Amino acid sequence: MTKPRLFSGMQPSADSLHAGNYIGALLQWKQLQRDYDAVFSVVDLHAITVPQDPATLREKTRRTAAQYIAAGIDPSASTLYVQSHVPAHAQLAWVLNTITGMGEASRMTQFKDKTAKQGADSASVGLFTYPILQAADVLLYDAEIVPVGEDQRQHIELTRDLGQRFNTRFGETFVIPEVSILKETAKVYDLQNPGSKMSKSGETENGILWLLDEPSRLVKKIKSAVTDNDGSIHYDPVGKPGVSNLLTLLSVLGGTSVESLEHEFAGRGYGDLKGAVADAVVAEFGPVRERALELLADPAELDRVLAVNADRANEIAEATLARVYDRVGF
Ligand code: ADP
Ligand code: NA
Repeated sequence: MTKPRLFSGMQPSADSLHAGNYIGALLQWKQLQRDYDAVFSVVDLHAITVPQDPATLREKTRRTAAQYIAAGIDPSASTLYVQSHVPAHAQLAWVLNTITGMGEASRMTQFKDKTAKQGADSASVGLFTYPILQAADVLLYDAEIVPVGEDQRQHIELTRDLGQRFNTRFGETFVIPEVSILKETAKVYDLQNPGSKMSKSGETENGILWLLDEPSRLVKKIKSAVTDNDGSIHYDPVGKPGVSNLLTLLSVLGGTSVESLEHEFAGRGYGDLKGAVADAVVAEFGPVRERALELLADPAELDRVLAVNADRANEIAEATLARVYDRVGF
């Protein structure tokens, strides 16, 4: 029996992924790759929608791929490739651009959010059409499911609309994906600023747990996490965001429910909780970091794995693109 196809990806936009990416994406992917024919991309075409230094981008792309593998994405079971190694992404995006309305594209709230500060006029057209490239990513692989966070719902709706529109106008061509929102996925917050989500663009370096941080650094950051003066350990994301964030981390990484952690830590101090979180994070990230560094120490082998996977991705993507080109009259 063939498994349904799944597509997901992340941008190579930092040297290291962080605890949010690990919990919100990589851990999910690792589970999903068993039940799906999974395609995971390092989406470097998306990364250049904002200015990038070429040498740094190349390095971040490699490091991101290494972290996918180190975290448990199996490049012989799943397809794990770099987006720019598959020309059909850009080719299909162009075709989809021509069936997307200006008004429709202008309604994408993520573009509005991303340009809220500096204004839309200084953004690139690429950033504006980013969701159309994202639609091409998904439709190229006949993906049935696209596991994403709530913030991506509108983009997946657009993907469905464009796929359906093309099918109606040119004949059945694309598989229309389901919107598959990862509701149960825990959100991780900045340790120094627990009102905002942990993000690579976060403002405090000590608030972010990088997957490639040295263990001692992880411990230091967790020990200095912002909490509150109330002194009791219970889950209350609004009233006690710092403590709740620590409970979430310990719950997800230790495989214990938040409820039983509240019991376990009743009457104990924040120092105890931080110690337990530090142990859990180091136990989880330590081996991932070591494996990633091993992979990065042998760039030729990593490039070979990525090339084999790009071949597999190209085979699927080229077949879809050939259908599309034929339909539109090329
Ligand atoms: P960033 O916010 O650092 O730019 P991305 O937007 O590139 O991260 O996120 C890539 C993936 O990681 C997405 O699937 C997203 O849902 C997940 N993710 C990012 N930050 C968090 C977080 N703080 N908590 C949970 N998941 C997160
Ligand atoms: Na983001």
